[in-house]
Amino acid sequence: MSRDLLSRASHLQWAAHMALRAPSVWNTQPWRWRVLDDAVELWADRERQVVSIDPAGLLLTLSCGTALHHLRTALAASGDEVVVDRLPYPGTPDLLARVSLRFPGVLVEDDTEYARFAAMARRRTDRRPFAEIPVSTMLLDRLRSVAAAEDTRLTLLDAEGVGLLARLTEGAALVEAGDERYVADLDGWTHRPRYARDGMPAANAPAAAARVVPVREFVPDADPEPGAGPVLLDRCASYALFWGEHDDPASWLRAGEALSAVLLEATVHGLATSPISNVVEVEALRNALRDVLPEPGHPYLALRIGWPISTEAGDDRTQRLSPARRIDIADPA
Ligand SMILES: Cc1cc2nc3c(=O)[nH]c(=O)nc-3n(C[C@H](O)[C@H](O)[C@H](O)COP(=O)(O)O)c2cc1C
Repeated sequence: MSRDLLSRASHLQWAAHMALRAPSVWNTQPWRWRVLDDAVELWADRERQVVSIDPAGLLLTLSCGTALHHLRTALAASGDEVVVDRLPYPGTPDLLARVSLRFPGVLVEDDTEYARFAAMARRRTDRRPFAEIPVSTMLLDRLRSVAAAEDTRLTLLDAEGVGLLARLTEGAALVEAGDERYVADLDGWTHRPRYARDGMPAANAPAAAARVVPVREFVPDADPEPGAGPVLLDRCASYALFWGEHDDPASWLRAGEALSAVLLEATVHGLATSPISNVVEVEALRNALRDVLPEPGHPYLALRIGWPISTEAGDDRTQRLSPARRIDIADPA
């Protein structure tokens, strides 16, 4: 069975709609979809690039990669085989990918993809401290192989690596707190009016507390965690680093796809996750983070993984821009 031209376009439009739930840095949603008759294009929206923390576009491209993987997951869950052409025109760097349905294609059932698709609606960034239960090596190995399938390395940090990540993350917080542009951008993206449907609600900012690796202070001087004292939180969390051999948009896009795949797979297994990017936002600290890599390479993003303290969501669900603002339908040829 295969889809005719009309149903292909509307199916791609549906998948782009589903992909709007993807996570992005500060919930900036820096992507645009363009639906053509027989393909859908993913474009970077540079107006949504947070230049103070992301001058080169690493975080923007990682975010667009998560959207691309969400789209692929929606299509795979509905049985479609796709052809993905990444960065198809070197002269048009904002066109990040073009995805088309294989035609004539065979509809294939895939339970793994379906489970990840279902997880797209449940996944969220969980910034609460994690439960005092370690994550099994088997599950962590599974996440590593999920990232490898997207051509990206995911390295689990040992105690020494976690210590270095903690020191560098603390350093990043100090450097960024002293940068006026950063402070203004952070304030802007955490205090968006509700109707804007983007940014991170200030209510989702984690309460101040001592953690193994500090969590970004989204709202400086937030109230302390109720009952928080000298006890160190997150003692059973695992920390991992996405990285790769190259430091270019093609590798960042793949790493974003790997990030989405790992977050969804973790959600399928009931694990909680939260990305940590401030350590890669300050060039000198990002360079220092290379010491934890098993081979020469470039760190893209750190991730905290653990068991949630509760299956109840502890905060507001982040909103998404309306499809009308993120999905363009090209006029029929
Ligand atoms: C590239 C990237 C970097 C991120 N960096 C951080 C971070 O440093 N700290 C944090 O708490 N969340 C971080 N996040 C999570 C986003 O803030 C989150 O995905 C967004 O607010 C949407 O919320 P949701 O994940 O709950 O859907 C990052 C996400 C992405 C994709």
